[in-house]
Amino acid sequence: MRTNQLKGHNGPRYRHETHVEKPFETIEVKKLTPVIGAEIHQIDLSKPILAKQQEELHRALAENQVIFFRDQDISKENHVTFGRIFGDLHIHPAAPHVTNIPEMMLIQADRNSPRANGEVWHTDVSCDQEPPMGSILHIYECPENGGDTLFASMYAAYDALSERMKTYLQGLTAFHDGEPAYRGTYANFGVQDKTNYPHAEHPVIRTHPITLKKALYINKGFTSHLIGVPIDESDGILNYLFEHMENPLFQCRFKWQKNSIAFWDNRCVQHRAMWDYWPNTRSGHRITVAGDRPFFQA
Ligand code: SIN
Repeated sequence: MRTNQLKGHNGPRYRHETHVEKPFETIEVKKLTPVIGAEIHQIDLSKPILAKQQEELHRALAENQVIFFRDQDISKENHVTFGRIFGDLHIHPAAPHVTNIPEMMLIQADRNSPRANGEVWHTDVSCDQEPPMGSILHIYECPENGGDTLFASMYAAYDALSERMKTYLQGLTAFHDGEPAYRGTYANFGVQDKTNYPHAEHPVIRTHPITLKKALYINKGFTSHLIGVPIDESDGILNYLFEHMENPLFQCRFKWQKNSIAFWDNRCVQHRAMWDYWPNTRSGHRITVAGDRPFFQA
């Protein structure tokens, strides 16, 4: 069996450094794993969110990369208002949205669906020049079992690379293409194809603008090739990185219930939705918060 252990090396190859984090005063934060994910309790997102709660939610997201809420019976207006706390809202370049709310993307799969959203590991809309900072998904209908979402920390994926690989990737950029991901994808929702879809070149390693930590920033959903290296080399390196980032050590898995919410930071997290619940229905709304142009800072 192949292993990612170094020869002659004792202990885990990936060691997550834990820090003592400042306690929270207005919310309760329960970590799902030492690496990624936390459930947030003692907050009602249908009510106004006070300044101190907003500050603590920002911090909980920065510390955990994806945060989850339970039993949040929110309206569409509550959802939009909550999203706006974190920035301007992003409008998806292709996906269907709720009538009269272009910022609110429909997430829906049922017996008749040809596909479900997010079945491939990805960060949302990384093909945009300024990809979204975060996504806030409210699931209001879900099967009793199945339909979980997996989240993977791209800080952990970066940290676990060998020093030689980090050196190789530093300064490289990659092409992210919306065309193959979006063309024809939403035809079942009556969405017409566009002439053009977004594409962008981004650093393979990006520095998070808030935490200043480095994260691996390539994904199977959008990244077609590395810029400036032969295509066979690009394919080899990307395939290695795609396999590497799927290591379960970097992941948490969220089991949805009616009125659960997940808020993930696209700058340091990839996710993958499991469509294992057919013919059952899973429905939700996603608000996506706009982001900045990715950069690398040594
Ligand atoms: C997505 O936003 O990629 C879909 C995630 C999900 O349905 O869990």
